[in-house]
Amino acid sequence: MLRKGQISAVNNLSDISDIRGKKILEIGGDIRHEVANYLIERGALHVTSININPKIKTQEINKNLSTVNLDATKLTSYFDTETFDMAFGVAILEHIKNTKLLLDQVYSVLKSEGCALLHGGPIWTSSIGHHTWVDCNTKSYRFNDQTNPIPNWHHLILDFDGMIEFLIKQKDLPYQHAEKVAKYIYNDSDLSRMSYLDFVNTFNNSKFKIIKILENIGPSLPNNILKKLKKTQYKKQNCEVIGLKFLVKK
Ligand SMILES: C[S@@+](CC[C@H](N)C(=O)[O-])C[C@H]1O[C@@H](n2cnc3c(N)ncnc32)[C@H](O)[C@@H]1O
Repeated sequence: MLRKGQISAVNNLSDISDIRGKKILEIGGDIRHEVANYLIERGALHVTSININPKIKTQEINKNLSTVNLDATKLTSYFDTETFDMAFGVAILEHIKNTKLLLDQVYSVLKSEGCALLHGGPIWTSSIGHHTWVDCNTKSYRFNDQTNPIPNWHHLILDFDGMIEFLIKQKDLPYQHAEKVAKYIYNDSDLSRMSYLDFVNTFNNSKFKIIKILENIGPSLPNNILKKLKKTQYKKQNCEVIGLKFLVKK
């Protein structure tokens, strides 16, 4: 089933330009092609949904939809320049390591006047930016349900060793679980660890014209956390922003 965030992102895209009759590139598409099919239902002529996940094969699903196993930072290795009218991707920016390269590549494969909606969240500097998604032998830990062991913003306040100690002493995690969670948060290649300002600056410095930036604001920063964040490199960030949607035009 489509998530609210996916539907609202499609609405945001159609607000800036008519989807009907368009050739759309979907980046990091879901495995069931739900968003791609929704774009087609809304009138898209054709959706090409790419993903780096090996489970996504390069194939034509039907006359309106094809999938390609491809890294979004290598689009021009597969597509001709100026191929698509629109590009779209939900919950991808926090996973793609080189945002500058991503933007250069999306820019190249969009036709002139083409537009894009690129979304990320939760972004690293937000309350749940640690994005914990870890499976241990006896338990799984997820940032978005009650198994989340990390209090808001603690991934920014603690370092790797401090996090392990916190998870063992305060959250009763066994050492192996605590270490695996800390390795995911601070070292795993699944996360870009780009901050709010990193994203905004990278988009501002790209070749795209920015139409709008939509922010999804999370919980307010309590004073005790604010004080601790002020002692870190994150003191100038807007750490209340969980999600960012960039609507851009070539
Ligand atoms: C959090 S999921 C979001 C999936 C889908 N867009 C959704 O809304 O459910 C992020 C997706 O981005 C894909 N991804 C990560 N890095 C990528 C890259 N460099 N190129 C293409 N896809 C990538 C992942 O495989 C994953 O399917």
